[in-house]
Amino acid sequence: MPAFETAPLSRMGDAKISDAIRDNGPSSPTPERPFAVTLDFPSGSLTPSNRIFVRKLSDMARLFEDQEAVTRTLGSGEDPLIYVGRYAAVPERPGNLAFLTTTMAPGAVGSEFYMTKGHHHVQDSGEVYLGLSGEGIMVMESREGDFAYEALTPSVAVYVPPRWAHRTVNTGTEPLVFLATYFAGAGHDYGSIERTGFSRRVYRGASGPEVRPPLPAGGAGQ
Ligand code: 6PG
Ligand code: NI
Repeated sequence: MPAFETAPLSRMGDAKISDAIRDNGPSSPTPERPFAVTLDFPSGSLTPSNRIFVRKLSDMARLFEDQEAVTRTLGSGEDPLIYVGRYAAVPERPGNLAFLTTTMAPGAVGSEFYMTKGHHHVQDSGEVYLGLSGEGIMVMESREGDFAYEALTPSVAVYVPPRWAHRTVNTGTEPLVFLATYFAGAGHDYGSIERTGFSRRVYRGASGPEVRPPLPAGGAGQ
């Protein structure tokens, strides 16, 4: 089995994935008026969408456990698209609720399923996820070290309390699509996840997804 499976771009919606970057993309000066957006559940397309960000393997290379597989793939010139985010036009100010969709390709790096980078919010605040399409798992870990996970599937809503880091994993064979809404202006802290990671990862096991700590170096399943 190849270390990577190529993202089905045609099923990932209409993202203009050339140069949009989450953290410094163009912000929206949209006046604060009621508005509506249309969601396409299978692709995650949001119409209108005012800001799009993409994450490729090279944007999150150090986060996957199997670093040999990462190096091999990037070295061969491949840089698979892992996920796309599409924001609705809500100004990022306290008092507002930001909301966006994420569309994640199916696939794995070695035996570890594709996943989001994962983050804490800088300003601790809760968040709600709603599954729209596909099959996934959310892993969550508190600043105090408690760990939890929940399945994320269509029609399931998951609540993430303040102080809990969160990461989403696509455990299916189709794109995983979900909506998330959170306190605008809460900010995203990726650094602490890059430094310490989550205590458990999600692997493709013989009889389904396995949520467990990494095995010791040299153990089976690496
Ligand atoms: C958020 C949500 C969610 C998440 C994306 C991408 O706070 O915006 O948790 O929309 O950001 O699914 O995940 P990463 O931000 O971890 O890359
Ligand atoms: Ni979040």
